[in-house]
Amino acid sequence: MSLIALCSAKGSPGTTTVALLLARELAQRLGRAGGVCLVDADPDGGDVAVRLGLDPVPGAGTLALAGRHGIDDGLLLAHSQRTASLPGVAVVAGVSGRAQQATLDWLVRPLADAAARSPLQLLVDLGRIAAGGPAGVLLDRAGEVLVVCRPDTASVVHTRSALVRLRGQGIAARAVVVARDERVAEEVSMALGYPVAGVVPLGHGGPFDFAGPRMPVATLRAEDRALQRAVGALAAFVIGESPGLVTPEVAVTEHAPDAVRLAAGRLHRRAGEER
Ligand SMILES: Nc1ncnc2c1ncn2[C@@H]1O[C@H](COP(=O)(O)OP(=O)(O)O)[C@@H](O)[C@H]1O
Ligand SMILES: [Mg+2]
Repeated sequence: MSLIALCSAKGSPGTTTVALLLARELAQRLGRAGGVCLVDADPDGGDVAVRLGLDPVPGAGTLALAGRHGIDDGLLLAHSQRTASLPGVAVVAGVSGRAQQATLDWLVRPLADAAARSPLQLLVDLGRIAAGGPAGVLLDRAGEVLVVCRPDTASVVHTRSALVRLRGQGIAARAVVVARDERVAEEVSMALGYPVAGVVPLGHGGPFDFAGPRMPVATLRAEDRALQRAVGALAAFVIGESPGLVTPEVAVTEHAPDAVRLAAGRLHRRAGEER
């Protein structure tokens, strides 16, 4: 099945939250048809296990060691953990920080190969992506690359730079906007010059705290229905059932839209003044 990569540029928190929400939603949708495996491959140190109240091992570190000559589903699942917070999702915990980052270098290629053969739906949380980081091969092989963005100037500027860079590498990524409501999606898409796959609403606790075995979707409060709808729409997009929120008709321009260019100029000037 396909590989979905989730990441963000500088200044756009929300990647792990979107990964958790999407994993839960996909597991529900796919049901017995196939499992979902969420791999925490954040080079800055994973926090999926912490958020879910899981142990740090087994995880990406042990999987990388055991699978350096190849990973199959059995090995992937043997190095994953289960939690009632995310039914149907096998979770591969992340490494503990930059010091263990080299481990991920070993992991990415066998993992990308495994994804191509596996019936599992693989979601990989890549954290903040940097040019030339270990994520490259996974981004290259992903069926969908989602870049989390916030609807503020700095986030849009950095996200746009990442999207332009990815496109230069032949990777057609899309943004997922973390925002109060869906109305910003078109605006952000125009400012980015790139399509937006979905919007995940900003919440206040509740569904964003996954620790503990008490998060069945049925218990979401009424005010969380918007979140459920939004994540449902994003899941429908990634499994090819819907065209996404703002479709690729939005012009993907070579030149940054004015708003982004002006904002980028301001950011650069400010960086210069601070030096
Ligand atoms: N949609 C959201 N609504 C409310 N809080 C959020 C949302 N997304 C992220 N957060 C909060 O922001 C912080 C960082 O989120 P996280 O998903 O861990 O970001 P990242 O993985 O990009 O570092 C967390 O405390 C999380 O609870
Ligand atoms: Mg994270």
